[in-house]
Amino acid sequence: MAILKILQYPDDRLHKVAAPVTEVTETIRKLISDMAETMYAAPGVGLAATQVDVHQRILVADTSEEGNKLMVFINPEIISKSGESDLEEGCLSVPGIYEKVQRFENITVKALNDRGECFMLDASGLLSVCIQHEMDHLLGKVFVDYLSPLKQTRIKNKLKKRRRETM
Ligand code: NI
Repeated sequence: MAILKILQYPDDRLHKVAAPVTEVTETIRKLISDMAETMYAAPGVGLAATQVDVHQRILVADTSEEGNKLMVFINPEIISKSGESDLEEGCLSVPGIYEKVQRFENITVKALNDRGECFMLDASGLLSVCIQHEMDHLLGKVFVDYLSPLKQTRIKNKLKKRRRETM
């Protein structure tokens, strides 16, 4: 396994749209285990392939308290959604920034697992928000895109400044 480099906002590659996975191969499984290791090491509760510069529809998540319930979603699709949620979100590509985003409280998601089998999952609360956040990454969308232009500019400047200081 390997820890992958996570793209940092602002980066144009975070706005690429991921392509569906056509076959769940050994290469995909290797990528998934590297993504999981990268997410746990960060540490974070979710990671989309887009964030490690692989533009395929794959995401991993683990919102359990113990961090021992890895979930893998390949070609995820939301097939039903209800309610409203506005949890504060963070992102491994936007370190140190936390903002509330409007999401659905409950979703039903259909996806393939790492064996290529189709499954459905009802999610609510943090897991639901996490899946919606990661699915946005696969569409080239970062959570700060929902914020006002003024806030987006402030966040960009702050992150650029911080990066200069640590280089
Ligand atoms: Ni994110």
